[in-house]
Amino acid sequence: MGISVGVPKENGAGETRVAATPDSVKRLAKNGFDLHVEEGAGLSAGFHDEEYAAAGARIVSAKAAWAMPLVAKVAPPTDGEASSIEAGALIVSLLEPFRNGALLQGFATRRVDALALEAIPRTSRAQSMDVLSSQSGIAGYRAVLEAAHQYGRFFPMMMTSAGSSKATKVTVLGAGVAGLQAIATARRLGAAVEAYDVRPEVREQILSLGAKFIDIKLEESGSGAGGYAKELSEESKKKLQAGLDEKLAKSDIIISTANVPGRKAPTLITESVVRSMRRGSVIVDMATPSGGNCPLSVADEVVEVGGVKIVGFTNYPAMMATDASSFFARNLVSLFELLRREAERGDPTLFVNLEDDIIDASVLVHKGIVRVKR
Ligand code: NAI
Repeated sequence: MGISVGVPKENGAGETRVAATPDSVKRLAKNGFDLHVEEGAGLSAGFHDEEYAAAGARIVSAKAAWAMPLVAKVAPPTDGEASSIEAGALIVSLLEPFRNGALLQGFATRRVDALALEAIPRTSRAQSMDVLSSQSGIAGYRAVLEAAHQYGRFFPMMMTSAGSSKATKVTVLGAGVAGLQAIATARRLGAAVEAYDVRPEVREQILSLGAKFIDIKLEESGSGAGGYAKELSEESKKKLQAGLDEKLAKSDIIISTANVPGRKAPTLITESVVRSMRRGSVIVDMATPSGGNCPLSVADEVVEVGGVKIVGFTNYPAMMATDASSFFARNLVSLFELLRREAERGDPTLFVNLEDDIIDASVLVHKGIVRVKR
């Protein structure tokens, strides 16, 4: 008998992804996992029940999917969903641990173990399991398409018999996973791209994508641990703002992705900058889910301030549900393989072996204890 995995349908507003695909079902089956997929779970991502069944999954009710010893989800469960998980089971999902303390505590009280996918470290060994990276790459791509759609002008320089257009000036703030993909996508569409990041080491990556690096000298490096940024001092923040304001005011499009894990996103696009931008310009504030790089962004809305559109969509991966689900599901295939291998090496009565550093970092509730490390 394999390890039974439940894949419930995502019921959150706007969530179209699913944690398993017919392809991942086959791969997991080879690794000793039996998938129990809720009826219709993959429909909004373009995967049909018959395809899951042909791949070897059992199509089950919501109740049955939630009752499995291992539950795979994309978005954090609601309180109602969480209470359907059995004691002793493990849920693997994005859990937004910094906002969901009560959810984690609830799991601990009910003796449910929880692995938060956002806590998987960004190391080379964990790369194949890094859901945040796979989804951010998709989001960076989709955000540029959104900007182009909202902009209503060409990105490349065009010379035609009916007139010509200048290349669109795109500024990307934050060149992590989403930002680098946004730069590459805007370049492919023919825009002139400039980018800034507080981590000086990404300069070469920005240049290699054919974009210019906005050089603002700060007294400190913004590099923190694990390939992420750290919070800047007040003095550096002021200096950065002064350096960026003029560049931003002249941009046609800003894609902002600046983020420090576990903190409110830094404010980089002030109201006065927005008001100084040309009418028709577009700001896509990808950091809206963590408070926004622009104070005027509104979650899941497009607002217009002085003729400038500010786009605050919070789930770009769900707008590309087929590929986003495929990448997500492949990340879980790698993670589940690790869980099974480590479980076999560890205590046979436990599925979670904390001796492995990836599992240790990402299992935030274990045996009734919340283990969040801040
Ligand atoms: P990441 O951590 O890889 O990249 C963030 C980058 O911002 C880092 O390179 C960091 O050095 C830089 N940064 C931090 N403070 C800065 C500052 N003051 N000025 C300039 N750069 C600064 O994160 P990732 O995965 O690329 O995600 C970026 C943002 O996009 C996050 O806020 C994430 O929550 C959001 N996101 C939004 C989605 C949506 O659908 N709206 C989907 C996926 C990600």
